[in-house]
Amino acid sequence: MSRSIETLCVHGDSHKFHDGMDSLSMPIYQTAAFGHPDLGHSPDRFYYTRLSNPTRTHLEETVSSLEGAAGTVAFSSGMAAITAVFELFQPGDRIVCSEDLYGGTVLLFDSIEKKNGLELALVDTAQPALVEAAMTPETKAIYIETPSNPMMNVTDIAACAAIAKKYGALLIVDNTFLSPYLQNPIALGADIVVHSGTKYLGGHNDTISGFVCLADKDRCERLQKIAYTLGATLSPFDSWLMIRGIKTLPIRMERAQENALAIALWLKEQPQVRKVYYVGLPEHPGYAVNAKQSRGAGGMLSFTVDSSETALRILDKVKLITFAESLGGPETLITFPATQTHADVSPEDREKLGITDSFLRMSIGLENAQDLITDLKQAMEP
Ligand SMILES: Cc1ncc(COP(=O)(O)O)c(C=O)c1O
Repeated sequence: MSRSIETLCVHGDSHKFHDGMDSLSMPIYQTAAFGHPDLGHSPDRFYYTRLSNPTRTHLEETVSSLEGAAGTVAFSSGMAAITAVFELFQPGDRIVCSEDLYGGTVLLFDSIEKKNGLELALVDTAQPALVEAAMTPETKAIYIETPSNPMMNVTDIAACAAIAKKYGALLIVDNTFLSPYLQNPIALGADIVVHSGTKYLGGHNDTISGFVCLADKDRCERLQKIAYTLGATLSPFDSWLMIRGIKTLPIRMERAQENALAIALWLKEQPQVRKVYYVGLPEHPGYAVNAKQSRGAGGMLSFTVDSSETALRILDKVKLITFAESLGGPETLITFPATQTHADVSPEDREKLGITDSFLRMSIGLENAQDLITDLKQAMEP
């Protein structure tokens, strides 16, 4: 029987983990190792938790079912997941990637992947013609975020998948901002999907984790080996927290995006606000592409205000909203990307992208929308 995404979030693919106890909550197999029955007969699947563990496997199967993936590997952080993906490549390989990416990914490219011999070409992936123009015989992958962090630029996933296929490259999509509830890149032709599970999948601002979901089973096996060789796999307890978080992903995403739209519409009307970047607003340049390839606009938005003084005043005066730099949890957060999430991007690149000192990013949470607006209103007042 095929299951809808709401049902998959609650039950996973298999309804119950068959340990003979019929527990509703997946047990936490808090063990480093499992006994071997006798010499030459290792237990079928589990013998050492860095390699595999029943709690983590149940989580990985659940995430695979949400993303329509052949397999998933759960990591100790989103950055560990992205690092492992780049281990699939060889020195001399070239990756074409969005110029607007999460700052940690930029730092990974600059400080580690370049040293490892990967070449990077940064382009505005919102324009497929520029992606195609950047492709060379050495290009082994296209790496995108859509909507991107923090400018909310939208990239056409199917168009990039077609370009990647034409040039024999992989398409890798960071799907953190919309989560599998709102967007499934593999169905649009992507080969690899990455997530910071710390965000919407975990959903409670209490666990760091990451995922790599793969369309191809053999590549998934390669990635599993990379993960356990690096020792970056997710612990049993954190796996359980993720399983618990995912159960409410659909209702959390619905509420966050309902609140985000209300706040985006309110922000647009404020005299101190110069521009609102929310992919759910019809005037957003990526609105049509996002509507075509996803089931919603999510809970992330950014905006610019009239001066850096106004931006700093908002950060200083918010009471209900927290000045902090994560996203995807129940609590609404406001971030100053120039010195927080994107501090590792060079000042010239930040200026070019629009990450100025009057630019703010918000992760809209699950509170009452009117309470959030009241807080923003008092914070904006001089
Ligand atoms: C889009 C995106 N990808 C990846 C990451 C890295 O995830 P983590 O902090 O779980 O390592 C983040 C973190 O903010 C992010 O926003």
